[in-house]
Amino acid sequence: MTENKQPILVFGATGQQGGSVAVALLRAGRPVRALVRDPAADKASALRAAGAEIVLGDFADTASLRAAMTGAYGVFSVQPSSGMGPLLGISDEEEERYGCAIADLALEAGVQHLVYSSTDAVGDTPTGMGHFDSKARIEAHIRTLPITATIVRPAAFMEMLVMPGFGLDQGQFNFFVQPDQAMQLLAVADIGKYVTAIFADRGRWAGQTLEIASDMLTGRDLEAAFTAAAGHPIRYARFSEEVLAGNAFLAKLTALVDNGRLVGRADLAALRALNPQQQSFATWLAGDGKAAFHAALGQAGRWGYGHG
Ligand SMILES: NC(=O)c1ccc[n+]([C@@H]2O[C@H](COP(=O)([O-])OP(=O)(O)OC[C@H]3O[C@@H](n4cnc5c(N)ncnc54)[C@H](OP(=O)(O)O)[C@@H]3O)[C@@H](O)[C@H]2O)c1
Repeated sequence: MTENKQPILVFGATGQQGGSVAVALLRAGRPVRALVRDPAADKASALRAAGAEIVLGDFADTASLRAAMTGAYGVFSVQPSSGMGPLLGISDEEEERYGCAIADLALEAGVQHLVYSSTDAVGDTPTGMGHFDSKARIEAHIRTLPITATIVRPAAFMEMLVMPGFGLDQGQFNFFVQPDQAMQLLAVADIGKYVTAIFADRGRWAGQTLEIASDMLTGRDLEAAFTAAAGHPIRYARFSEEVLAGNAFLAKLTALVDNGRLVGRADLAALRALNPQQQSFATWLAGDGKAAFHAALGQAGRWGYGHG
């Protein structure tokens, strides 16, 4: 079948989401073309060694995007956001412009299946947070285009929980949820497996919007999982009022968790049928997340995201 010979163009392939998608597609035997800013970087070299075609480009260079789309069967589109903080992030306007331009160029190039990665915070009304509402506008733009597209809405990444700054080094874990409130989490490795299944069945996923997650846990569940993995007690507490008062970004996110907007509504059982290797948080902590978790146990730090 020609669709299995034409490459899928993956954006952000040196990052978390695009990297997961590129690896999973390659493992499934799909040809991958990765657009990278630095072909000599270690992650680009690793992608090349794994079998990906590497092309040079940048979201800000429309000609490079157009060239990269030539002959592509599919496109996986993801952009950085302002939520990633001043070092790695981009403005909400840039995110929207890049996300919309990629969809427009995919249509122009005759791409057969566009998969856009948004966030599970997107819903019927704006959230009031720039890096969520930018994605809502990209989703809306894609829906106006005569292109076969699937939108995935990822839950919060498990990887985020073991970043320094959540208190693990002090035998505690402070996060958004109340102790008895459940929130969905997504193992980054599962993103690629879900997206690979979506690319494998264009007819089923054309025009669909799908929340993706791997597990659902309360604060107490997180306490139990961290305690078991650490071998010593890790006490769970929701962010203190003092912390929230000093960090407007965190306070807005916490309010969205409080009102249920940011806790996830993915159908985990249906997703498991799509990806039988779907990871529980405990499995992730013992595997993909183990090194970062143990590093966080011994590392004080500050949050590296948001605007503070
Ligand atoms: N963290 C969460 O829990 C969560 C949940 C849902 C959604 N999200 C969303 O996920 C997105 C970030 O995805 P991620 O975690 O995969 O990001 P990431 O790991 O930081 O990767 C970003 C990728 O984008 C590439 N890139 C950056 N600027 C570029 C440019 N100008 N031109 C071309 N490529 C560029 C980077 O390439 P280089 O290697 O060259 O830097 C890298 O490959 C954000 O929009 C965020 O809001 C996050």
